[in-house]
Amino acid sequence: MSKKLYEELGLVNTRELFKKAFEGGYAIPAYNFNNMEQLQAIVTACAETKSPVILQVSKGAREYANQTLLRYMAQGAVQMVRAMGSNIPIVLHLDHGDTFETCKSCVDFGFSSVMIDGSHHPYDKNVEVTKQVVEYAHKFDVTVEGELGVLAGIEDEVSAEKSHYTKPEEVEDFVKKTGVDSLAISIGTSHGAYKFKPGEEVPPLRFDILKEIEKRIPGFPIVLHGASSVPQEYVEMVNKFGGAMKGALGVPEEQLRQAAKSAVCKINIDSDGRIVFTAVIRKVFAEKPAEFDPRKYLGPARAELVKLLKHKNEHVLGSAGKA
Ligand code: G3H
Ligand code: 13P
Ligand code: ZN
Repeated sequence: MSKKLYEELGLVNTRELFKKAFEGGYAIPAYNFNNMEQLQAIVTACAETKSPVILQVSKGAREYANQTLLRYMAQGAVQMVRAMGSNIPIVLHLDHGDTFETCKSCVDFGFSSVMIDGSHHPYDKNVEVTKQVVEYAHKFDVTVEGELGVLAGIEDEVSAEKSHYTKPEEVEDFVKKTGVDSLAISIGTSHGAYKFKPGEEVPPLRFDILKEIEKRIPGFPIVLHGASSVPQEYVEMVNKFGGAMKGALGVPEEQLRQAAKSAVCKINIDSDGRIVFTAVIRKVFAEKPAEFDPRKYLGPARAELVKLLKHKNEHVLGSAGKA
């Protein structure tokens, strides 16, 4: 095996974390970041709750913040956490990698985990591209997440009007042929802040499909994307202070808690952090219109995000105290 390029950044891959999460009946939080304040909030919340953490970088984040900068920010975050006296494991993960080249560039760049999202391809093409990424990534001991089934909503640039649930009969063959380390599945979650129709009953996640998948690939780590709960208190705060997030709805926390106790070892959350940030910043702008120091609105937003993420680790994912 070649050198683990990510080791010098102080990062780890997901293998050991998922094994422990599976055995312990909890899920590792995978939080997206695009800027310094989000990153500070994520690592602070995870250090303070003693939770392992997966820092996720999407294609959009790479374009927004620059991949080089994000890599060094993650390295800096590791140093910051160690200086706080915490030893939590930290993974740097590519979220929704769309091509072999994107995944390769992240592996070469020191990411310790990558996702190749071939879910929009026909099955055979998904197998082919996923296998190609696995073969390259494993040379550097970088772990790989694949996806089967399509989530409703927007998956970066791939939009799917309706979700196509993962077909349990495909998972064993996919895992065997590709050699992936974890598998993202579609059981009723979706990306973004508008997951369900307002006024209608929220349809429960398809735990029956999850069970069927678990039966076919026992012990294999499953990933849940689109797992924001869209906390209504923050949606109301956005709307109260001039925003227009009407009818925003997410996955109920109890269902995520239930999923975390099963083979689901990684839960992806991005939208909730965005809503908290927006709500707090809107409040500051509305209440202190003369304020123009970014620290005066980004600071409170960051502090509120720490609160939310600690709550997730402690009461939803169950990852608190597991580092
Ligand atoms: O799955 C999508 C993530 O929430 C990332 O979103 O592509 O807007 O950064 P983004
Ligand atoms: P949410 O939009 O529900 O936060 O999902 C995020 C996600 O799946 C990132 O890959
Ligand atoms: Zn996702």
